[in-house]
Amino acid sequence: MSVDATDERIITTEDVYEPAEDSYLMIDSAFEAIEQQNRISRINRILRILEIGTGSGIVSGVLMRRAPEHEYIATDISPHAVACAKRNGLQVIRTDLFAGLSGRFDLIVFNSPYLPTAPDERIDGWLDYAWNGGADGRATINRFIEQAPNFLAESGSVLLLVSSLTNIEKVCERMRSVGFDVHEAASIRCPGERLVVLRGSL
Ligand SMILES: C[S@@+](CC[C@H](N)C(=O)[O-])C[C@H]1O[C@@H](n2cnc3c(N)ncnc32)[C@H](O)[C@@H]1O
Repeated sequence: MSVDATDERIITTEDVYEPAEDSYLMIDSAFEAIEQQNRISRINRILRILEIGTGSGIVSGVLMRRAPEHEYIATDISPHAVACAKRNGLQVIRTDLFAGLSGRFDLIVFNSPYLPTAPDERIDGWLDYAWNGGADGRATINRFIEQAPNFLAESGSVLLLVSSLTNIEKVCERMRSVGFDVHEAASIRCPGERLVVLRGSL
């Protein structure tokens, strides 16, 4: 089932990433991953689902409505995103990636800041964190990839959204270097780029 901007009933604010094609692609991919886990375990086991960089909270918020039996927790580095996601009913921690979290998760999702960004392209304020992936687009992504295995449950998986502008093959190489099996779970073409959800499992 796909979603569009009209059916989420999610509060957004101007200082938080506005949900876009990447958000919706991640929702569909994450829901499919949850359904797949349910099919594998045959019973509807309660899954622990972590979203890094939740922004408005749209991804976890829609998943929570569709699959309320699971446990959801989210993080964001932006105080505005944390406030907005809380208004959307999420349990959110303001932190840098996984800092301060403990335990392991069956599914970890991250619609990352994936755009290559030169210093003079930076914008003032917290919204910069929504897009700014550093010079090659992979600054935050690489840190996520290094840390994610420490938080993944056995037979769990990560969903990482990147763009063709990020150099998808380099992201895959990095994921393989820390032990992930990687494949493209979903993709869409947008003007000037292709958006891809990479699924990694250990
Ligand atoms: C592309 S936006 C995605 C927002 C939302 N998940 C969505 O799909 O609409 C990326 C989000 O990641 C957050 N973020 C960036 N770097 C982060 C970090 N190091 N730790 C936690 N969150 C981070 C940003 O503040 C932003 O809300």
